[in-house]
Amino acid sequence: MSRLVVVSNRVAPIREGKPAAGGLAVGVYEALRQSGGIWFGWSGEVSANPQTHSEVVGNINYVTLGLNKRDYDQYYRGFSNATLWPIFHYRIDLARYSREEYDGYRRVNVMLAEKLKPLLKPDDIIWIHDYHLIPFAEACRMLGIRNRIGFFLHIPFPAPEILTAIPPHNELLKTLCYYDLIGFQTETDRLAFQDYIVREVRGLVESDGSLTAYGQNFRAGVYPIGVVPDEIAKVAESYKGRRHPVGRNTEGGPRKTIISVDRLDYSKGLLERFLAYEEFLDRFPEHRRNVEFIQIAPTSRSDVKTYQRIREQLESEAGHLNGRLSDLDWTPLHYLNKSHDRRVLMGLFRAANIGFVTPLRDGMNLVAKEYVAAQNPADPGVLVLSRFAGAARELTSALIINPYDRIGMAEALDRALRMPLEERKDRYEHMMRAIRAADLDAWRDNFLRDLRSFVSRPKDLS
Ligand code: UDP
Ligand code: G6P
Repeated sequence: MSRLVVVSNRVAPIREGKPAAGGLAVGVYEALRQSGGIWFGWSGEVSANPQTHSEVVGNINYVTLGLNKRDYDQYYRGFSNATLWPIFHYRIDLARYSREEYDGYRRVNVMLAEKLKPLLKPDDIIWIHDYHLIPFAEACRMLGIRNRIGFFLHIPFPAPEILTAIPPHNELLKTLCYYDLIGFQTETDRLAFQDYIVREVRGLVESDGSLTAYGQNFRAGVYPIGVVPDEIAKVAESYKGRRHPVGRNTEGGPRKTIISVDRLDYSKGLLERFLAYEEFLDRFPEHRRNVEFIQIAPTSRSDVKTYQRIREQLESEAGHLNGRLSDLDWTPLHYLNKSHDRRVLMGLFRAANIGFVTPLRDGMNLVAKEYVAAQNPADPGVLVLSRFAGAARELTSALIINPYDRIGMAEALDRALRMPLEERKDRYEHMMRAIRAADLDAWRDNFLRDLRSFVSRPKDLS
């Protein structure tokens, strides 16, 4: 079998006792752990004299490189995270565009492809991940790399009306068409992409389902990223209660808990969530002192302005909420900016009565799946889930909410806390079936099967 070479911007192996750097890192690590191969990308280092490292751990060879400050600013902080991220999450209002940053983004993609080239064998399968690396395949082709190259987008793909706000959208999308296979989280994302290809650039949907645009023939498919449910259940069981904040309700029993875990990102709907929780405590005062809400939100991309602003807003709202409602023996909201070991998180999920996952937009949201997989089947908690998370397409038995509807969210929390055991079990079992049907192995195996088997029509590389 050919070797697998994975490329992602951030190379972040999951190590025992360490938190994960997001859904991509969790998924790619789990996928590579079994098959083995190379994982190539940025080490996280920014310096005037960036170094390359190679380290073999288990059957994965991590090859990482640093970035200089200019590349970091233009490629990572600039075009990737101040243009692409907000626009792909439907936040044109938070996006900025600079031609210099776009040029830097293109330049770093070429530089990364050049550094990868000497590591490649002719029959390696190359799997590229996420929005930082859209032009990577084009850069490879220009360097004469002929391997199969697939791309998976972990975040949403926006409707063409939104995407076209990026001034060089046409050039950018042209580079994407150099991949042999492009994978999306949901059918909505795939359709938005196809819509762009067909309407904006008069591309064709061929009779075999492949697409032709800009002289390239390629395939686009849906591969929802998943989790490893049995492992999560095992870890959750053994970590339950190890780090659980203890609190007593008005009758002396343990307090009910609501848990949320997100990178501190404006796409996660954290402010709307805090406001909905406050609304819930105001509307249903019988829950006061009987419930506590734990929000774990490790800071992310904290040198991007929009991230600094959301952090300030959250601090202000958390302070307001706790100041107004706390008592000497009750703190309604525990707001933690620290990242946590995944095993501790799984234990917290199992102990919590509600998983509260309310992004304004999210490619998938692995936390939603992890929360469900961590539950005790005999007494499961309830997932309250935003309709705008990719996961809502599969976890249809969650309590689906609209994160812009504050009262609706407050009512969902009340309903979840009152939900009878039988209904909780029915919903849990239904969600577990969906989680098992699209687990992490299925994500990797289906994507790689399609990448290996696709025979494209002759490519025009002019
Ligand atoms: N995570 C973690 N420690 C933390 C916060 C998050 O290990 O302190 C993990 C979490 O369990 C999940 C991933 O990071 O596996 C986040 O993935 P998700 O798809 O929910 O969101 P993303 O960060 O990719 O937007
Ligand atoms: C999300 C993105 C990943 C990214 C991660 C952490 O999961 O889809 O591509 O790696 O967030 O963000 P960071 O900017 O720290 O790599």
